[in-house]
Amino acid sequence: MIQELSYIGIGSPHAEDWRRYGTELLGAMLAPDGPDGAVRLAVDDVDYRIAVHPASEDEFRYAGWGVANETDLHAFASHLESRGVTVHHGDAELLRERQVAGLVWFEDPWGLRHELSWGKAATPLSFRAGRTMRGGFVTGEQGLGHVVFQVPDIARADHFYVDVLGFRLSDRVTVGAGGADSTVDVRFYHVNGRHHSLALAELPGHVGFNHLMLEVEHMDDLGRLIDLLDEHDVEIVQSLGRHTNDLMTSVYIGSPSGLQIEYGFGGLAVDDLSWVARTYTRPSYWGHKRSAAAQAALPGIVKPLAAEAR
Ligand SMILES: [Fe+2]
Repeated sequence: MIQELSYIGIGSPHAEDWRRYGTELLGAMLAPDGPDGAVRLAVDDVDYRIAVHPASEDEFRYAGWGVANETDLHAFASHLESRGVTVHHGDAELLRERQVAGLVWFEDPWGLRHELSWGKAATPLSFRAGRTMRGGFVTGEQGLGHVVFQVPDIARADHFYVDVLGFRLSDRVTVGAGGADSTVDVRFYHVNGRHHSLALAELPGHVGFNHLMLEVEHMDDLGRLIDLLDEHDVEIVQSLGRHTNDLMTSVYIGSPSGLQIEYGFGGLAVDDLSWVARTYTRPSYWGHKRSAAAQAALPGIVKPLAAEAR
């Protein structure tokens, strides 16, 4: 059973820019570089959770999901194979790079790579925020944060992520007529107390990585990030607002690599025993206005699919 979003990796020609962006703006801590020169960032005592690999174009590389232990990893790998998923076993070199004790990986129907691992390295009392902060990031049992992917077919994606991988639906946001006529069709899934560790948004003909959400413990650290945006020449993609479903007060900002970062405070924790999925017709109580530039561009690291892959 997947229990947390453990880490993520992207590739980018602007990987080096994350040294300043990741620390002085986001407040993460620089970790030692990866073997390929990847810039790596820690947001808690886990030695690193975000890797930006040098690459010729902005690209999603992998999402790392944590399972409890070795037994669970083996059981999950067998389960995936029984459902027809091709499972690759990480070699010693990959385990060293990801700093985990065991790892398997596979791809979703559109080639998004997911890694399952256990035993990720952590150093107690090692985290120091990269800028002045009142507190730290909300991680622990809720993992790194959440990731949102664009997928071309939400029903097919839901089948894979729920029926095969075991993500549990938290709720949906649909705007428009529903089904193929919806202008917004997003599903949110939990694997622990965090309202969602994963969301899938339908974007016909495309696949990609929309945003990574990082949650801070204190509203002041969200406010200070907004104050610092001008100094870092980073644009707001969606203005400060509060979501209807996870109650997160957040701002969406650009990054050096096309990926959007949602920086939030005050997210809801769910209790799986009593949780009932709802359908909301709007994503936010207030705010989250998309900038003109954001409305004109593809959201995040998104690529058109080749015709045969649609
Ligand atoms: Fe989000």
